[in-house]
Amino acid sequence: MNNSSALTGKKVLIADVSLAVRKLMVLKLKKFGAQVLEAGNGLEALEAVGREEIDLLISDVDLPGLDGLELCRKLKSNEVTRQIPVILVSMLDTDADFERGYQAGASTYISKNISENDLQEQIERVMAQVERQRQSLILVVDDSITMLKLVETGLARSGFNVITAKSGREAIDRLQESKPDIIVSDLDMPEMNGQEFLSWLLTQPQFAKIPFMIMSANSEKSIMKKMVQQGAASYMVKPFNIDQFIFTVERLLSEQFQLLLKERERLELERSGLLGTITALVQALEARDNYTSGHSKRVAAYSRQIGEHMGLDHDQLDTLLIGGKLHDIGKIGVPDALLLKPGKLSDEEIAQFRFHPSIGAEILTAIPSLIPMIEVVLYHHERIDGLGYPRGLTGDQIPLLARICGVADCFDALTSDRPYRSGFEQEKAYEIIQEVRGTQLCANCVDAFFDAKIQVIR
Ligand SMILES: [Fe+2]
Repeated sequence: MNNSSALTGKKVLIADVSLAVRKLMVLKLKKFGAQVLEAGNGLEALEAVGREEIDLLISDVDLPGLDGLELCRKLKSNEVTRQIPVILVSMLDTDADFERGYQAGASTYISKNISENDLQEQIERVMAQVERQRQSLILVVDDSITMLKLVETGLARSGFNVITAKSGREAIDRLQESKPDIIVSDLDMPEMNGQEFLSWLLTQPQFAKIPFMIMSANSEKSIMKKMVQQGAASYMVKPFNIDQFIFTVERLLSEQFQLLLKERERLELERSGLLGTITALVQALEARDNYTSGHSKRVAAYSRQIGEHMGLDHDQLDTLLIGGKLHDIGKIGVPDALLLKPGKLSDEEIAQFRFHPSIGAEILTAIPSLIPMIEVVLYHHERIDGLGYPRGLTGDQIPLLARICGVADCFDALTSDRPYRSGFEQEKAYEIIQEVRGTQLCANCVDAFFDAKIQVIR
């Protein structure tokens, strides 16, 4: 059994009539870092739960006196103990047994023959579910105060965070304040009914993917079908059993969570593929010209250091790093004869060379995940005094990330060898950067560059 972090420092109660079984479980759970308490029957377990703050109960179904199912029901019907997750263990493992366990409110039901690895997996799954619930926000919308109270109380007892609204209109106001993980809504409401509310949500990209669950007294099949076709994730007919309701919410949440995980995996994969492509593109670009070898990589690294020093967030730093690597990608469109020319360029050649930021931006437009980097690529040659290109923007008109890249680009250009001169010493480069602070380069970015004590990367 591997070490698990899900139970580290957690208090677990084992209820089993057999001392041998309990001792074995204690051994296993201690390996997870859990603190373990034992109970030999249902009443003892109930007493222990009343006495101590338990994080997880693992109980045999066959307990003398109060059996595991009854113990579970008692915990789930008490406001104080309702949030404790229960894993039921039994020799009986037919579908009917499992169903009875879930109906009693158990988080999961496992066979006594379960392997150590499977037990660990189940425990981790249950603890992750508890954690998810604790962090989940549910928006409940209903014009009936009684219904709102019932659902809110039920959800809150199970550990969910809840916000409520009395109509679709009021729900939209709530959405301006916080983004729920699930929306539960009645259909017939004044001002804006459930169907109109769902239609509105589907037009809002930031809310369209939140699972939408309907609770309605209307049990007409045609309406249910219509709502599900429109995008509702689930439909509960009133009156319903609150435990059934909570079970459905938990299921939706867990499905939603799985979807999010998959989406994240997909993005990661896409991103690593993308980074490979970028590296290849930049290498192809720099292979044409010995003098610029490693330039993009260094500009990316300097930019990131400046950005970190300025307190940019993770997404901005990411954009800056990739944007830095790509800033000169448009040079792919500049002919060799011009790019490698050792002497002075003619006016016409300069004009041609100055197309490279626009060419770069155009290349990136075709790749959706690189669109945020366009501002770095397009504006890295703009100057604070308006004398830069391609637009001649001034001051704050130039996006911050481009201004940062401008400082990094300048520093690397000064310290690298060029066809027409060899690179300056670091100190000389610092002096020149200080001289163009506030004219060519953004003053704040230059200050951050010096504060971050950036050194030449060789
Ligand atoms: Fe450039």
